[in-house]
Amino acid sequence: MLKVKPISADRLPDLLRLMPKAELHIHIEGSLEPELMFALGQRNSVAMAYPDVESLRSAYVFDNLQDFLDIYHAGTLVLRTEQDFYDMTHAYLARAAADNVVHAEIFFDTQTHTGHGLSTDIVINGLHRACVDARAEFGMSASLILCFLRHLSEDEAFECLEQALPLRDKLVGVGLASSEMGHPPEKFARVFARARELGLRLVGHAGEEGPPAYIWSALDVLKVERIDHGVQALKDPALMARLAKDRIPLTVCPLSNLKLRVFPTLAAHNLGRMLDAGIVATVNSDDPAYFGGYINQNFTQTFAALGLTAQHAYQLAHNSFEASFIDDTLRRQYVDRLTATFESFN
Ligand code: ADE
Ligand code: ZN
Repeated sequence: MLKVKPISADRLPDLLRLMPKAELHIHIEGSLEPELMFALGQRNSVAMAYPDVESLRSAYVFDNLQDFLDIYHAGTLVLRTEQDFYDMTHAYLARAAADNVVHAEIFFDTQTHTGHGLSTDIVINGLHRACVDARAEFGMSASLILCFLRHLSEDEAFECLEQALPLRDKLVGVGLASSEMGHPPEKFARVFARARELGLRLVGHAGEEGPPAYIWSALDVLKVERIDHGVQALKDPALMARLAKDRIPLTVCPLSNLKLRVFPTLAAHNLGRMLDAGIVATVNSDDPAYFGGYINQNFTQTFAALGLTAQHAYQLAHNSFEASFIDDTLRRQYVDRLTATFESFN
């Protein structure tokens, strides 16, 4: 690992912005800003639950994950056409590129949209076209991860996977999202086994609000390769040792954890302790339109609150490339760009 020269706290935000990074935990529906939501609502003649952008935004105060999910699901009602999915994804990719995200692995929920009467191909084709265009327009790579909704049944997840299979080549993997408590990973053992047989990469939300046992079963039953959130792992020293030993990445989302009251303040966040324990942690935005920040705001606010250093910044960006599902040639190119950014920064 590069030994990074010390950088003063006032220069750190510039470095955090400039450094190339991968974003591995972003729900595309959670990137839908109120302005675009209202524009799509008008385009599709969908009645809005709030009179204007400001009143919608002022409703974004949450006590827990479920509180948020209720508003988040309601927000997706404006998405009706392939062009809507394209526009939402294009807007996210443009915003991410401005933060020097050079690679994004994007979560999406087809079940929410099929529940609104849309077909799976409208969703995936719109998202995929935006990812393809981002290569030429922003010089960045992007891929798609279909998330099963864990508050629904495993049979419904199977149906969702079946519907996505004709578009298999447009997906890099599958994940598990939505209401965590009461829906342990093992509920989805068979559908994850099927996805694995199909050669899809596997990730899953675990230990966001739920107990360390959910992280164990995501690893040992679902056989996921990354854990999304995983912040509850610190309650279980044996689990921490396992995550460090097997280099299982955690996609951590500090501003999400703050907004959903997983931690009372950013200063209480355990990201620094994870890094100290040798965990392959990464920083991500989760649902940036709802949680008050894209990836760089997650970096800068968390670094300020926890007193993290330029060495931590290099580690976190390096981890993001190590944890991503890109091929090794591209990984080396991105890591070389990262190292060059740090070596030339002064
Ligand atoms: N879907 C969108 N954001 C989520 C989160 N933070 N946890 C679980 N499911 C989600
Ligand atoms: Zn998430």
